[in-house]
Amino acid sequence: MPYAAGDAGKGAGLFKTRCAQCHTLGAGEPHKVGPNLHGIFGRKTGQGEGYSYTAANVSKGITWDENTLFEYLENPKKYIPGTKMAFAGLKKDKDRNDLVTYLKEATA
Ligand code: HEC
Repeated sequence: MPYAAGDAGKGAGLFKTRCAQCHTLGAGEPHKVGPNLHGIFGRKTGQGEGYSYTAANVSKGITWDENTLFEYLENPKKYIPGTKMAFAGLKKDKDRNDLVTYLKEATA
């Protein structure tokens, strides 16, 4: 199933509970264990300035958009073998739709 726009409010809740311990979203916010995700849409993998990525994340080489994020977040270790992102994935399509809808607003 491809990405379809979801509920940004629910997505915000998911970000808070599943991602916020490792990622910030706003412009100029610091990296945590994972990179700050401001401006991620339309950017290639591994390009967050001043963050030390694995070679696996950098060399994936795709452009992040609704569809690539939707696929990645289902199973990050399958999409980018060798990533150091310790996150098992969001298995429900609806959760990923809600989260990606929120990310699009919150990283712009
Ligand atoms: C336990 C910490 C942790 C959690 C939880 C986590 N991440 Fe990550 N994330 C990372 C790390 C570390 C990397 C860098 C991976 C690498 O370099 O291999 C990363 C990388 C990423 C990237 C790639 C960034 C780029 O510039 O290529 C995206 C997108 C991302 N995470 C989104 C998310 C989202 C959305 C969630 C919540 C569903 C999440 N992450 C949960 C630690 C985490």
